[in-house]
Amino acid sequence: MSRLRVGVVGTGFIAGRHLAALTASPDVAVVAVADPVRERAEAAAARCGARAHGDGLALLDTEELDAVWLCVPPFAHGPLEAAAVARGLPFFVEKPLALDLATAEAVAVEVARTGLPTAVGYHWRHLGVVQRAAETVPAGEVQLVTGSWLDRTPAAPWWVQRGGSGGQVVEQTTHVLDLARLLAGEVDLVSAAERPAGADGEVPTAAVALLHFASGAVGSVSSTRVLGWRHAVGLQVVTEGRVVELSERSLTDHSLRVVTADGEEVSRSDEDPVAAEDRAFVDVLLGRSAGVRVPYAEALRTHALACAADRAAREGTSVRPAS
Ligand SMILES: NC(=O)c1ccc[n+]([C@@H]2O[C@H](COP(=O)([O-])OP(=O)(O)OC[C@H]3O[C@@H](n4cnc5c(N)ncnc54)[C@H](O)[C@@H]3O)[C@@H](O)[C@H]2O)c1
Repeated sequence: MSRLRVGVVGTGFIAGRHLAALTASPDVAVVAVADPVRERAEAAAARCGARAHGDGLALLDTEELDAVWLCVPPFAHGPLEAAAVARGLPFFVEKPLALDLATAEAVAVEVARTGLPTAVGYHWRHLGVVQRAAETVPAGEVQLVTGSWLDRTPAAPWWVQRGGSGGQVVEQTTHVLDLARLLAGEVDLVSAAERPAGADGEVPTAAVALLHFASGAVGSVSSTRVLGWRHAVGLQVVTEGRVVELSERSLTDHSLRVVTADGEEVSRSDEDPVAAEDRAFVDVLLGRSAGVRVPYAEALRTHALACAADRAAREGTSVRPAS
């Protein structure tokens, strides 16, 4: 069997999860990895028998690949995707698509022009409990959506700077906004408020976004980073006489709770959605299945919503997400 030759750019936390999944796949060979922190690249390369590069563009220039996984922080997007497109190389990219909307829109134009297969790391969509929630919630019957990302400040040095991560809403709460779109449809208008951090350039310590859905449903999504623990990450959707609640305690600990007047049903899931999204994209690239669940164009709509919520909070205005 011929193996898919894969490169991985960025070898930090989430790349470790992807590398574990990819190296466990008998139909994949991870041939090269890259990270500007050279020791990190070399350690990852040693673990999976790959070549190490100090620069993702050099990896793309010199390696013969069938696909690349881009696992870099928000500030590093743009040039890597442009290089992948120029080489006709399908790519998986972690969310968020970029720090801003313009960078992602420019990539999306090129992806659409070339028709390259792409997949984006909105991993919740690969969970059985999320599929079940989508089947349980009748389209158009959603009245209210309430979401939250109440957590600690991540340790990565780039995260706390707006110029590094784009802020909590763009970097983290985007997962919750993606679920909101999946279960309640597109958002027409966003207004928002944020509590600025004390230090200049640091991302806000708390934010709330008010969502007006095209269906007429309304919603709110709250974010904070000031806790010492992960308190609540998830989404509740209310239809007539029913609440559907999804939550995430860690990357491999999710639950679905459906509550009606007759009682409640709780399903826990220990699925690994990162391995599932990697398997799904590998199968597409090897011609074993046709559809990607979250291609670049689909992720762009979620990114546009997150960027609209971020802008609405910064400017104190209402913003229509780009469609
Ligand atoms: N889907 C998820 O649930 C999930 C979970 C965690 C992180 N992520 C996303 O993955 C991305 C990375 O997050 P992380 O937690 O792995 O961060 P991290 O800081 O642990 O790792 C990022 C790595 O990228 C490297 N890097 C920076 N610029 C680079 C460049 N130009 N070329 C190559 N490498 C570069 C850094 O040196 C670092 O090693 C973020 O966008 C984050 O939102 C997604």
